[in-house]
Order: sequence, then C-alpha cells, then structure tokens
Amino acid sequence: MGDSGYFGTGQKPPAAPADCPVDHGFSPFADGYVADPYGELARRRRETPVFHAPDLGYLVLTRMSDVAEVFKRDDVFASENVQEPVTPVCAAAAARLAVNDFNPVPVLSNRAEPGHGRIRRHVQNGFSGRRMRLLEPVIRRRAETLVDAMLAAGPPGEFSAAVGHALPGETIYRLVGFPEADDPMLMDWSRDRLAFTWGRADEAAQVAIADSMVAYWRYCVGHVARRRDEPADDLTSELLAVHADDPSALTPEEITSVLYGLSFAGHEIVSYLLANALICLLTRREEWAALIAEPDRIPATVEEVLRFDSPQTSWRRVAREDTEIAGTRVLAGTRIFLSLAGANHDEAEFDAPETFDMGRENARAHISFGRGVHFCLGNRLATMEAVILLETLTARAPTLALSPDRPLTYVPNFTLRGPAELWLTW
Ligand code: HEM
Repeated sequence: MGDSGYFGTGQKPPAAPADCPVDHGFSPFADGYVADPYGELARRRRETPVFHAPDLGYLVLTRMSDVAEVFKRDDVFASENVQEPVTPVCAAAAARLAVNDFNPVPVLSNRAEPGHGRIRRHVQNGFSGRRMRLLEPVIRRRAETLVDAMLAAGPPGEFSAAVGHALPGETIYRLVGFPEADDPMLMDWSRDRLAFTWGRADEAAQVAIADSMVAYWRYCVGHVARRRDEPADDLTSELLAVHADDPSALTPEEITSVLYGLSFAGHEIVSYLLANALICLLTRREEWAALIAEPDRIPATVEEVLRFDSPQTSWRRVAREDTEIAGTRVLAGTRIFLSLAGANHDEAEFDAPETFDMGRENARAHISFGRGVHFCLGNRLATMEAVILLETLTARAPTLALSPDRPLTYVPNFTLRGPAELWLTW
C-alpha cells in the first residue's frame, strides 16, 4: 500500500511542551459533543483557545484567527495527515490493504507542493464557472425528480435516503463519468470509507471496509482504463487528454487517485450540508416562510448554514518544524486539530455567533471550505446543490416540517457532522 497518505505513518506525535495547556477531556466522539459541539467549543474558546488533548493526540485550535493562520502557513503546517484514519487501522485490515494493486497516491488534499499545485491546476478545470453553469439545469431537473418522488410516496419521508444522498452522489459520479448503474454500490463504498477514515469502526468493520476500499480503488482503475479506450464527455477523459498531451503533467496513477478522492469528497459531506440546511430552517418557521416568500435570499442563507452548522467541523495539519501558534510552542510532528466549528462561531469574527441569521452580512467569512492552497475545489458545486435543493423544496413543499416523533441523532464522527436520518412530513 506504500506511502499513500491514507494509512498514517504510525509515528507517535511529540508530547506537549510543559508550558502548553492540557485538556484530557476533549473528544469529538463524546456524546455531548456529537449532539451539540457549539456550547463546549464556546467555553473552550473563552478558557483555553489553544490546548493539547493528549488522549486524542492533537493540539486543538478553536479560534478563527489561529485556524486561518495555520491554513495560510502551508510551508510550516503540512496537510499530509488529512486522510489518515483517526481510529488506528488494525493488523487484519492493514493486511487486506497490503495487496500490491491497492496503491493510491496523495494528489490533492494530502499532497504537498509542488505536486499539489501541478495536479490541482488540471483538476480545477472540471469545476470551472462554465462547467457549473452547464451542470445547473441537470442538477435542478434531478432535484425536482427526486423531491417529487419523495412527495408522491407520502409522508413521513426519510430525506437522506430519498434525496440527500442521491443528489450529490449522482452529480459527482456523472461529473467523473461513472455509469449510473453503479451508483448504489459507489454510495455504499463511500459510506464505508467515511467510517474507516473519520469514524470509530471496530476491527471487524475495518476488515470488511478494507475489502470494499480495495474494490473501490480497483473500480477507479478500471474506469480509467475504459476511458483511455473510449473517451467520453467527462472529467476522467479530460484528465487523460492532459496526460496524452504531456505524460509528465499527470500520471495515470494520479488520475486514478483523483477519481478515488473526488468521488468520495463530493458525496457524503454534501448530503450532510443539505440535511443541516433543512434542520436549520425547519426548526425556525419564520425563516422558512421568509425563504418561500423571497427565494432570492436562499444563496445567502446557504452561506449562513455553512457557518452556523457546517457539515465539516474539523480538519487536520501536522507541524513540519518547531514553531509557535498564538504564543504556544509547537514541536515538529505535532498533529493539529483545526476546529472549523469553533472558528465559525468565534465572537471575535461574528456578532452573536450562536444566532442563525439569514441576513448576516459576513456569513461568507466562514471557514468551512478551508483557506489557502487547499481551499475546497468543490465549494461552488456544493453550494449550488444546496441552493437548488432549497429552491425546489420551498417551491414544491412549503408545508415541509421535521417529523415530531423522530428525534434527531447525529453520527459520531471526528470531522463531519450530520444527522443519521432526517424524517420529514408535509
Ligand atoms: C459542503 C460541502 C463541502 C465542504 C464543507 C468541504 C470542505 C473542504 C475542506 C475544509 C477542505 C480542505 C481545505 C484545506 O485543507 O485548506 C476541502 C478540500 C477539498 N474538497 Fe471539499 N468540501 C465540500 C464539498 C466538496 C465537493 C462537492 C467536492 C468535489 C466534488 C470537494 C472536493 C474537495 C477537494 C478535491 C479538496 C482538496 C483540494 C486541494 O487540496 O487542493 N469538496 N473541502
């Protein structure tokens, strides 16, 4: 499996310097944090905004200024650990991944410069303004079809199964050119990888998921081989054309790794954004009514959802050298937990941060898509999907409400935040 960036180095991070605040209690898997991370993060921002969580193995940053600074100093804070499983991979699962042909290479989120910039330049053409304008009517038609099918089935309906997974999953799979017939299998693999990377999969689950990760990877290899023989109008064929023009611009392994990464990055997190947007709005009837009356407020509202209840609450970095952040010494090898949720609710940045305010002027200053050289490539696509979904639902289902007898529960996860299910009535 080599130096894929997907399994961790196995190296232990250095202990916290003696002068650094230490907090043994912090865990994104704790029940209270999973249910609602914001109260705890507000207290930590006030009391110890920068602290070591030795049981977790990370230095935790909760303020916007510190999180933004780490993203900006990419020469000092490397992103090579962002795809490492947070739960150590057991020996049996590692053995399943040790097959010779499972060899993804770091390409975007976990790749250092200069390779990262070289690869990103080509991949970002797939997310251009022109491409987004072409995709817009396609996503809209699909959103309408999925929503109509959910409504026709009658209430109550489980949103994530009916619409939330399908819309972003199908969108990214068509963009890279995966055939429609494979959608259910790809969505299952994607759910598995999420649990393997940022969840708490036990040993038996890890072994089963390791097999599905190998199958997912082989599927991407097969797709690239097919497109080399039969190019089509999709991103895979565009990347292969770059390779054909100049083999040193992108290797076939890099193209396969891009597909393996993008098809995962574009799905589950967006389904959480769609669900979180509905939770924000359907628990605030006045805001929902305001959007029905004035749908042109939907794009600004999506930015506030991304700030107020982001589907991504954290991201990671590792210090390449001894340095300092906010006056705290940081030793080389220290792993850093960037609390995007903490930064998005920082009172130094946002007035009344715990209030959901559709008219907030600086909502776009949220940091849910990161900052700097690794800034999320799919930000426009994700935002557009959420805008289209809300436009569709406000127009077609104005009486939409959360099912009163189905309490929300959140999936325990180190990085993503979204409900396990979202039951709706209308
Ligand atoms: C609401 C949905 C999404 C959120 C909150 C989100 C968030 C993020 C964050 C925080 C980063 C890391 C930025 C950094 O390290 O500085 C990132 C990177 C990335 N995201 Fe997203 N993302 C979303 C949707 C998408 C979608 C739909 C796609 C693709 C279809 C995508 C593709 C990527 C890629 C390829 C990177 C790595 C870029 C690079 O390293 O150059 N994301 N995203």
